[in-house]
Amino acid sequence: MEGKIENILISQAEIAEKTAEVGRLISENYKDKKLYILSLLRGSFIFTADLVRQISIPVQIGFMATSSYEHGESSTGNVKIVQDILDNIEGYDVLIVDDIVDTGTTMKSVKEHLLSYNPASVKCCVLLDKPERRKVDLEPDYKCFTIPDVFVVGYGLNYGDYYRNIPYVFNWESK
Ligand code: IMP
Ligand code: MG
Repeated sequence: MEGKIENILISQAEIAEKTAEVGRLISENYKDKKLYILSLLRGSFIFTADLVRQISIPVQIGFMATSSYEHGESSTGNVKIVQDILDNIEGYDVLIVDDIVDTGTTMKSVKEHLLSYNPASVKCCVLLDKPERRKVDLEPDYKCFTIPDVFVVGYGLNYGDYYRNIPYVFNWESK
């Protein structure tokens, strides 16, 4: 762990600054809407907690758990809904919040799933975008950072069952 700290890709200060900016933009764009933030567990719990505190308009917050990775670094391509949304989102303007859009498979299938509940709109907001790995047609509506094709950990993102609690994003692969 110690040796990894110098591989910080995005610092706490950079995350805080960008999250505040995106929070302001969301507050402005949704000011006349019924905003429902849907946080995808587990990866987005820290980003969601910071982002919603930068949103200045009324907002409801809910969670959904999906899984596509089996404790490794590559996606299986199968998105499983481990726990579905508990609220009725009919007529709401849903903003899905996740840690990262990588292949895009997770976000695309969650979006399609939510549309069956008749929300007024479904958009997405991510901390990180890794466009080089995209396999489906999916562009995040809001994002904080675009990163190259490297495996990153921290600030909610895991490797195995660990590192979600590290307060910044670091590059797992470099030595
Ligand atoms: P996608 O379906 O391929 O877009 O992958 C989305 C999920 O894969 C994210 O919610 C993460 O949990 C995981 N993931 C993708 N890239 C990384 C990474 O660099 N580090 C940690 N998790 C990642
Ligand atoms: Mg993960």
